Amino acid sequence: MSKDKLPRHATERQTADISEAQIAVHWPEEDYFSPSNPFIAQANLTDAGIFARFALDKFPECFKEFADLLDWYKYWETTLDTSNPPFWRWFVGGKINACYNCVDRHLATHKNKTAIHFVPEPEDEAPQHLTYQELFVRVNEFAALLRDFCGLKAGDRVTLHMPMVAELPITMLACARLGVIHSQVFSGFSGKACADRVADSESRVLITMDAYHRAGNLLDHKEKADTAVMEAASHGQQVDKVLIWQRYPGKNSSPTKLVEGRDFVINDVLRKFRGQRVEPVQMPAEAPLFLMYTSGTTGRPKGCQHSIGGYLAYVTWTSKFIQDIHPEDVYWCMADIGWITGHSYIVYGPLALAASSVVYEGVPTHPDAGRPWRIAEDLGVNIFHTSPTAIRALRRDGPDEPLKYNHHFKHMTTVGEPIEPEVWKWYYKAVGKGEAAIVDTWWQTETGGFLCSTVPGIHKMKPGSAGPAIPGIHPVIYDDEGKELASGSGKAGNICIRNPWPGGFQTIWKDPERYVRQYYARYCKDPESKDWRDWPYLAGDGAVQAADGYYRILGRIDDVINVAGHRLGTKEIESAALLVPEVVEAAVVPVADPVKGKVPDLYVALKPGLAPSEEIANRVSASVVSEIGAIARPRRVIVVPDMPKTRSGKIMRRVLAAISNHLDPGDVSTLANPEVVEKIRELAK
Ligand code: WT7
Repeated sequence: MSKDKLPRHATERQTADISEAQIAVHWPEEDYFSPSNPFIAQANLTDAGIFARFALDKFPECFKEFADLLDWYKYWETTLDTSNPPFWRWFVGGKINACYNCVDRHLATHKNKTAIHFVPEPEDEAPQHLTYQELFVRVNEFAALLRDFCGLKAGDRVTLHMPMVAELPITMLACARLGVIHSQVFSGFSGKACADRVADSESRVLITMDAYHRAGNLLDHKEKADTAVMEAASHGQQVDKVLIWQRYPGKNSSPTKLVEGRDFVINDVLRKFRGQRVEPVQMPAEAPLFLMYTSGTTGRPKGCQHSIGGYLAYVTWTSKFIQDIHPEDVYWCMADIGWITGHSYIVYGPLALAASSVVYEGVPTHPDAGRPWRIAEDLGVNIFHTSPTAIRALRRDGPDEPLKYNHHFKHMTTVGEPIEPEVWKWYYKAVGKGEAAIVDTWWQTETGGFLCSTVPGIHKMKPGSAGPAIPGIHPVIYDDEGKELASGSGKAGNICIRNPWPGGFQTIWKDPERYVRQYYARYCKDPESKDWRDWPYLAGDGAVQAADGYYRILGRIDDVINVAGHRLGTKEIESAALLVPEVVEAAVVPVADPVKGKVPDLYVALKPGLAPSEEIANRVSASVVSEIGAIARPRRVIVVPDMPKTRSGKIMRRVLAAISNHLDPGDVSTLANPEVVEKIRELAK
């Protein structure tokens, strides 16, 4: 990598003038809670000596222990190859198959054990329990279909746009069996958002489902595939086949017509593949397992590429020791498989450990806020994993509901956003009944698995803090000048990781320069260096480290908003607003919200001479929903006479964010148009 490609202090978004971290919630941190003795007595990891074994001077060989949890066709020769920083290659020379590790290898001892509990939303529909043997059969048959009916082979990409059903892990594992790279798009994303991902990954095959239940409605999902295929074609990507699972096999639940020669109902085609078996393809450890698109600073989502060997080793180890999964556990992560949390901690990690993993359809609070606890009681769930947004909603809608059910969690997780101490305490007391150890896990789509968290059998919990780094992870907080901020300094800075780790993404699909620029350029000590020590990973979050070593994550430092634990790019939302012909400028800012953590407020300015109207505002909102999906729907669309701007014409999002959050925008006298601030404040009241 030459120096000119790597400007030292200029990553993509150093000039962002509003950050989530600036409107972070502040809370005192003094409480500690100890894990219970019964939890510690059964925990997978209680030896604090582990941290010495994973000290930096043991790097990278210490990570062998992670990969040794897996079955390899061929053991690797090099634990970590750093010859081309920052493109780290783990377990080089190893041959492995992810599907074999999550399914086949359990048949000898766990054939009759439930691999997946599928819980439909309508409560009168019985849950389905798929054993490891049944999972094996279904994955093999579908892999045969993908290979022989679609002609897919190792290295090809396939886009999945599937809801939360058992067929989703089946589809992912069938891809993994063949070495086909899956790219699952969150089902709530629009057909257009799906099209961008189909085009970027150059998928010839799109796999979807006709319909699914959400909050009392059976939603037509197939219609999104039609949009996706049409729009992908306009980006130059031809989709040859759309494969459609049926929510109710044998019955069509979508009013959207099938396109002759392109659309195929999987349940019909599968008949030809009954009883077929497909040998797992022995893949290089370094081959990609999947792409997961996430929001960045430009309008274009980034395809984070995760490896087979390193990723699987990382999620398996962290599932065993941070999630404390034992094979006899019933584990329920309430996330959607369309996000990294679901990939790592519903599918790959738990199944690699032969756990029973729950896949549920619907939303936590429908038909009422007792549903999760009913499910937990019925299935005997003892490990529970969810987000602060879900916890806040469940607490709001049914603070006493958990006490009505006879569920018992030994362990609970929170992920995706900072959790307020009082919300944490409700989670601990009401949901966990004071029995469960809680881990607050900080990580990202890019990182594959947890970075910071307490080890539940070793550390005390501190509400509102993610905890120290997990074994093998060595964070550092830098200020803007690249000076290290000491623990206990009380100063917030940019959290980075000093060392590579096996779960880290390999690159951005088709955009390696962006990968370097965005994650490594900022604090790289020497762009010519082959030494990993010179390449700290920039996570993009503001953080402080307390004197006890625990990290508190404050929020994004860049142009990304975390809404209800989901990452949205400000540029993506603004571009959608600009599709409305009347709109000339758009600026989106994060607003603190009691349930969702952050929600977007969208400010728009219209072409000269046009009068603001509710109708225009509604069309702006509708455009955001159709371009991205309902999760990006702005809380408010505020039509303003002009944007607050610097003299060089840059929109001052910081001022808008202050207005939306009822904060002091500070000195605005240097703006080109300071008088507009008061007018906007009136409009945004
Ligand atoms: C961003 C990553 C991690 C999987 C789900 C989200 C925020 C994540 C925490 C936490 C405070 C957190 C960060 C991070 N975040 N976990 N425990 N405490 N903030 O993955 O969509 O890639 O988002 O979520 O801001 O950068 P993602």
